[in-house]
Amino acid sequence: MTVVRFYNGEQIPLEMHKTRIVQKLNLNPVEQRVEAITAAGNNTFLLKNRDVFLDLLTDSGVNAMSDKQLAAMMEADDSYAGSETFYKVEKKIKEIFDKEYFLPAHQGRACENILANAYVKPGAIVPMNYHFTTTKAHIVLQGGTVEEVLIDEGLKVTSDYPFKGNIDLDKLRSLFERYGAARIPFVRMEAGTNLIGGQPFALENLRAVRRLCDEFGIMLVLDASLLADNLYFIKEREAAYQEMSIGEITRLIADCSDIIYFSARKLGCARGGGICTNSFEAYNAMRELVTLYEGFLTYGGMSVREMEALAVGLDETMDEEMINQGPQFIAYMVDELQKNGVPVVTPAGGLGCHLDASRFVDHIPQSQYPAGALAAALYIASGVRGMERGTLSEARDATGQETFADMELVRLALPRRVFTLSQVKYAIDRILWLYENRKLIEGLTFVEEPSVLRFFFGKLQPISDWQSKLVAMFKEDFDNGL
Ligand code: F0G
Repeated sequence: MTVVRFYNGEQIPLEMHKTRIVQKLNLNPVEQRVEAITAAGNNTFLLKNRDVFLDLLTDSGVNAMSDKQLAAMMEADDSYAGSETFYKVEKKIKEIFDKEYFLPAHQGRACENILANAYVKPGAIVPMNYHFTTTKAHIVLQGGTVEEVLIDEGLKVTSDYPFKGNIDLDKLRSLFERYGAARIPFVRMEAGTNLIGGQPFALENLRAVRRLCDEFGIMLVLDASLLADNLYFIKEREAAYQEMSIGEITRLIADCSDIIYFSARKLGCARGGGICTNSFEAYNAMRELVTLYEGFLTYGGMSVREMEALAVGLDETMDEEMINQGPQFIAYMVDELQKNGVPVVTPAGGLGCHLDASRFVDHIPQSQYPAGALAAALYIASGVRGMERGTLSEARDATGQETFADMELVRLALPRRVFTLSQVKYAIDRILWLYENRKLIEGLTFVEEPSVLRFFFGKLQPISDWQSKLVAMFKEDFDNGL
């Protein structure tokens, strides 16, 4: 992506790729949309793709592949053991992260399962800048506890702080002093911190965390799923690294990390995951688990075609003009919404544009899932599918009480190289309409509530007939219902 200025002064992000394969989209009229969201229990995860116009649910496994990735997939060496494709990925990992050992896994959470199984014992404390849903679930499943040591600024929805994903070093030190290496198996640093709005950490901060870990003899694990965005922001926002290439910054980050794991559904624009390290001890502790849960060590549950795509995709991640595609579209969206008074997470991060539901629908209490209600309303108003990232995405505590989320967000993820600027503009327009009519939106209540990761397949209903009122208002303003 390149930001260019039009003759009239407007600045836009310009796509630096062309589309050579297309997929037809449906834009159903509003009556069909409300039927679809009702059938989906007001849970955007349960919508059928054929009922979705712009799928901004996630960037996971849906980033567009390049011609080079597709070409590489044809060369995949399909064998259970010793596949040439595996050695290609292993070599690429060594080249990019300078890590000797690579363990493939079928996706990011599989890596988390392996890490938690290998290192988290009952009573363990795992400090991290911020949790991710699946990460926390795996740590808790092993009897561990997550301790977030994010800087306070990180939880401020509106801010101009460039690195809201940073760890607060004092908070980390005091955890280290309280529990020591005996109770703390590792510190987890998440790149492009997902649940607080795709916010990056600064390389200076990671280095300081590394020094602290060294002082106490504690391992540092990097979740690199959203590393591409974080790399872009370090280069953009951290003065000391502006002259460095993305490859050089990556190496500095990798040098700070004892273990790196990632979802290749995000990093590398493919589908799969992996763990890499220079420690034979760590490799040894985890490899049995890979063969037990994932597959043999040279495929680990991944399709070899995806492994080929990953090797090329990782290489493409080292290209600034490629990894800026998400963040620049997001910045455009955030700017346009902010100009019109819509509450969004700032500064613009990676991954997606995040609406702040706690202000967008400030009349809905957290017990009625404001972010879930807003995600459902946005789908009705636009056919755009976003994702609730608020209280619904949390789990109840041991006594069955709700854990109210720190932030009530609706995430509108922008998969890379998939959408065009006119589609982004359509989404912005319908959000503006919804914001004007926000008082019509009301809360949701559960009709089916699973006990684990409930946001994935739980079903809810509106607490009143507010959705029909929203449809009626929409048809007044857009008489063809589109
Ligand atoms: N870590 C981070 C930071 C993630 O964002 C994800 C996935 C995972 C781990 C787990 O990886 O899905 O391959 O098992 N995030 C997806 C999302 C689900 O939509 O944000 P996975």
